[in-house]
Amino acid sequence: MNEKDIPAVSPAAPVILEMNHISKSFGAVTALVDVSIKLRKGEVLALVGDNGAGKSTLIKILSGFHQPDTGTIVYQGKEVHFDSPREARAHGIETVYQDLALINHLSVYHNMFVGREYHKRVLGLKLLDNRKMRTLAKTYLETLGIEIPSVNSTVELLSGGQRQSVAVARSIYSSPSILVLDEPLAALGVRESAHVLGLIQNLRRQRSVSIILIVHNYNQVFEVCDRINFLHSGEIVLDASTSATSEEELIRIVKGGLGREAIAAAAAEVSTVTKWSEPSQGGASA
Ligand SMILES: Nc1ncnc2c1ncn2[C@@H]1O[C@H](COP(=O)(O)OP(=O)(O)OP(=O)(O)O)[C@@H](O)[C@H]1O
Ligand SMILES: [Mg+2]
Repeated sequence: MNEKDIPAVSPAAPVILEMNHISKSFGAVTALVDVSIKLRKGEVLALVGDNGAGKSTLIKILSGFHQPDTGTIVYQGKEVHFDSPREARAHGIETVYQDLALINHLSVYHNMFVGREYHKRVLGLKLLDNRKMRTLAKTYLETLGIEIPSVNSTVELLSGGQRQSVAVARSIYSSPSILVLDEPLAALGVRESAHVLGLIQNLRRQRSVSIILIVHNYNQVFEVCDRINFLHSGEIVLDASTSATSEEELIRIVKGGLGREAIAAAAAEVSTVTKWSEPSQGGASA
């Protein structure tokens, strides 16, 4: 799983997606300020940033879950407006959300085909073709190298990593143009994370689907991504190819760029506490 095994995305690869000047507020909360991102065909783009930076909001705008207050989305050369996740999906944009949308009490193979079930006719009745879905799901998961005890297991019996792998497998089954993965490694152990990252790396090698990957761990970013966009307080503060930057550089930017603000905020907090505690100096304040 070495980055060097995979040649860089050709600069001639077409830009498949542009989100331009996107802003979004929820009441008094500003989630995104004039954010622009670009994605080439076959590219894996990492979206990193602190909790609450606006990562999920940005991808939920792409997937039709939220509408932007301002800004445009240009997809495959045309400006688009997605009013619902269903519409974005119909255009080939698949999203695996941070809170997975698998149905726990259904089997793995039923989950694979939710909303696109195969049917058969028996004595004029339309019935689910369970045998076909079971066989297809088994073959498909094997092709992707996903090991689960049985496609008949209900999803609630799977480990976190297996569940995440099934969610990713389901989202790529329809051969999307863009795959969006929001924190696919959250709550996964080392081995399970490696499994999901391996899956992403295989997709990257094929260069047929463009991927936006939201992750927290910079190390993982360098393993499987071509480019990094750093989101801070609703703004993109860094856009760099992984070959042109390093984990140390990212950490330096976080410390240098964000440290001053964090220190100023902490200082303000300390002075407030000091003022409040002055009148009751004699008493135990904590
Ligand atoms: N539906 C909503 N209603 C109100 N505020 C929201 C909503 N969704 C997000 N926010 C706010 O918008 C900001 C950005 O949230 P978002 O979920 O996009 O962050 P994030 O970068 O994905 O964070 P995390 O790493 O914790 O998932 C936060 O301040 C959040 O509280
Ligand atoms: Mg999020």
